[in-house]
Amino acid sequence: MASKHQCFTVAFLILGIWAYEGLGHELSMSDLHEQWMVQHQRVYKDTAEKEQRFEIFKKNVEFIESFNNAGDKSYKLGVNKFADQTKEEFRAFHTGFRPSQRRASKATTGFMYENTTVPTSKDWRESGAVTHVKDQGDCGSCWAFSAVAAVEGIHQIRTGKLVSLSEQEVVDCDTGDEGCDGGLMEGAFQFIINNHGLTTEANYPYVGMDEECNSQEAAKVAATISGYQNVPQNNESLLLRAVAHQPVSVGVDANEFMFYKSGVFNGPCFTDLDHGVVVVGYGAVHGTKYWIVKNSWGVSWGENGYIRIQRDVDAPEGLCGIAMDASYPLLTI
Ligand SMILES: *[C@@H]1O[C@H](CO)[C@@H](O)[C@H](O)[C@H]1NC(C)=O
Ligand SMILES: *[C@@H]1O[C@H](CO)[C@@H](O)[C@H](O)[C@H]1NC(C)=O
Repeated sequence: MASKHQCFTVAFLILGIWAYEGLGHELSMSDLHEQWMVQHQRVYKDTAEKEQRFEIFKKNVEFIESFNNAGDKSYKLGVNKFADQTKEEFRAFHTGFRPSQRRASKATTGFMYENTTVPTSKDWRESGAVTHVKDQGDCGSCWAFSAVAAVEGIHQIRTGKLVSLSEQEVVDCDTGDEGCDGGLMEGAFQFIINNHGLTTEANYPYVGMDEECNSQEAAKVAATISGYQNVPQNNESLLLRAVAHQPVSVGVDANEFMFYKSGVFNGPCFTDLDHGVVVVGYGAVHGTKYWIVKNSWGVSWGENGYIRIQRDVDAPEGLCGIAMDASYPLLTI
């Protein structure tokens, strides 16, 4: 992972926005908004919209500042590309996990990692089992990104080859889920099984909209899976055993992730699962245990696209419900 230091250095040098904090608010809030608009190539259709967006931006920046100044959490927030959106807009466009559609039964049979031993830390990125951070854009396709990342992981672990696979194929061709309107990781796994695999990102690139299924490209299978399993619910030590063996898809409540910048996220957080992500490792820093979670909001969000979420909390469902709905694909070759 690119170092945080590098990230901050680059940000400090090229983004005037950070001068806001450094120069004791010499930049006015509206200057800050202008700079942010340039940085994020944001164009508003008229002054009315700009004024409306400015008000939201201002509230968000003030919230982020007061949060960081309070300094009572193990993580920091940052002014990122979501800064002119309300929480409601953010949730509507950048998540997409729909657990309410869940098939009735949630029986876990034959969880294969129950009795395995685990290393004290694991990072599948270091093993070369994780592709670059992707960006779902304004489309509720997190569930496809989560499932595809887990498939990329097991494919690399079993074959030694890391191949970036197509989320757009899942969005377009998995008729059991709802594309940009949301879906389930298990639905995506089932689609991949039924389709006898997935094609590559290069063959079927991401566009971030619902399109007609391109069955010609979808037929050019580059990786497949032989099944999938659930991790028994509400048990972080069982989730740990699964993650020790492969990247695992999980549902989380991502409402408080909007402005996450760095550190170990330690709440507050509810467990109303609305987002699909993939756990690609775990570790501990100064005695605080965390999960390493790959998100699909681009590299500019969080720690180069990742979030560390506190692990082994008192609640059995895990922080933000991370242990409530975990699943992973199987591949026997
Ligand atoms: C794990 O061990 C328990 C106790 O020996 C046994 O009942 C269970 O079947 C084992 N699970 C797996 C997946 O092997
Ligand atoms: C989690 O599962 C393990 C293994 O089945 C079990 O020993 C442990 O008691 C469970 N923990 C909780 C909190 O249910």
